[in-house]
Amino acid sequence: MAKRNDDFFKEKKPWSEVKDELLGCYFKPYVSKILHTYKPLVYVDCFAGKGKFDDGKPGSPIIALDIINECISSTKMETVNIHTCFIDLHYASDLKNNLKGYPGIHIISGRFEDEIEKYLSDKVGCNVFLYIDPYGIKALQCSLFDSFATGKFYSIELLINLNSFGFMREACRALGTTYNDVSVFDDLIEYEPTIMDISEQSIVELNEIAGGDYWQDIVKDYKKHKINGYEAEALFAEKYCARLQQSYTYVLNMPLRIKKGQRPKYRLIHATNHKDGCLLMVDNICNRWQALQKIQTDGQLMLWEENCENQIIHEEDIEKKLIEHLSQYTSYTSLHETLASFFMKHGVICSTSKAKDIIKNLQKGNRIDIIRNPSRTKKGKPTNFMTEGKGQTVHIRWLS
Ligand SMILES: C[S@@+](CC[C@H](N)C(=O)[O-])C[C@H]1O[C@@H](n2cnc3c(N)ncnc32)[C@H](O)[C@@H]1O
Repeated sequence: MAKRNDDFFKEKKPWSEVKDELLGCYFKPYVSKILHTYKPLVYVDCFAGKGKFDDGKPGSPIIALDIINECISSTKMETVNIHTCFIDLHYASDLKNNLKGYPGIHIISGRFEDEIEKYLSDKVGCNVFLYIDPYGIKALQCSLFDSFATGKFYSIELLINLNSFGFMREACRALGTTYNDVSVFDDLIEYEPTIMDISEQSIVELNEIAGGDYWQDIVKDYKKHKINGYEAEALFAEKYCARLQQSYTYVLNMPLRIKKGQRPKYRLIHATNHKDGCLLMVDNICNRWQALQKIQTDGQLMLWEENCENQIIHEEDIEKKLIEHLSQYTSYTSLHETLASFFMKHGVICSTSKAKDIIKNLQKGNRIDIIRNPSRTKKGKPTNFMTEGKGQTVHIRWLS
């Protein structure tokens, strides 16, 4: 169902709560961690909205700004350098009004795709975090995302709300077929949906969004009934992430659903060049599980990937998948690197601590060797930490 975008801000819908909750729960540990790089942090809400919903609930700008203020007041660091920028095509004046209490922020009235490069041009060497929450898919040009990752920033992370079902629907339309066997659109209100037509121009635009023409084969298979609409969307999301991986080493694909047993409605994509950023995202999704469940009182929020029968992946499956994944590391590799690529492959199917417990058991069974540095505590005992960073490294190798 398509709606005028004014309605979006009347009251905050569970969908927005889910997205913002995920942004918030990730952003807090991200800010605390990134401040310790001693490089400036640049946070850009690229489709910022009004700042606040008409029912008084905070929008993504206020959520991020409150977290930044919290981190600044709790840090022991003497100086912190944080730039915040809020871009919106329609609501810059609402943003100014609603964000009055937050000094030093930058508000841009305009299109993300026209403004972002200009804004970031003097942010070389900074840690950059972009929150990308558009209504449709039109403004998501893949080449822009590539250009951010060319090494001019100290670090770069993207959190993208991808309406992959909307993409598939328009991809089908552009290639002269109808995407009509998925029910997600029945209860997903779409504001300003992107609408394409059968034309060369639409194909060019979809190629730009997808970062290639791989989506056309998916539509062709769908047209020939080789795959259904849900499989087509999942395949598109998988290939889209693989495409982003040409520029970002770690790309996490998180299907979002509201109720148990439901199909995902859209995807959050997290792209970073840092393995620790990927693992931080995995753990925050797991840690905030309870909080996320409360968002919908009449149902259970489901983030976990389910198999085709809508069954949750079981513990034995996690172990099986982990063994299969780790068995490729026959020379010593950073533990965090092996874990980040595991979650990229399978999604957020468990917490990092769960995966680490399985690894420790595999070590006990002599299937994995672990080398820690430092290998001994100050008192001379063998170390047993499973976290890298702050002078500690953990490398693992598959033995059998
Ligand atoms: C889904 S809403 C964002 C909601 C916001 N993240 C929040 O939680 O409050 C999308 C916003 O993108 C804005 N918008 C639409 N096209 C845009 C573009 N090309 N560039 C920047 N903003 C745009 C709309 O005005 C709308 O406020």
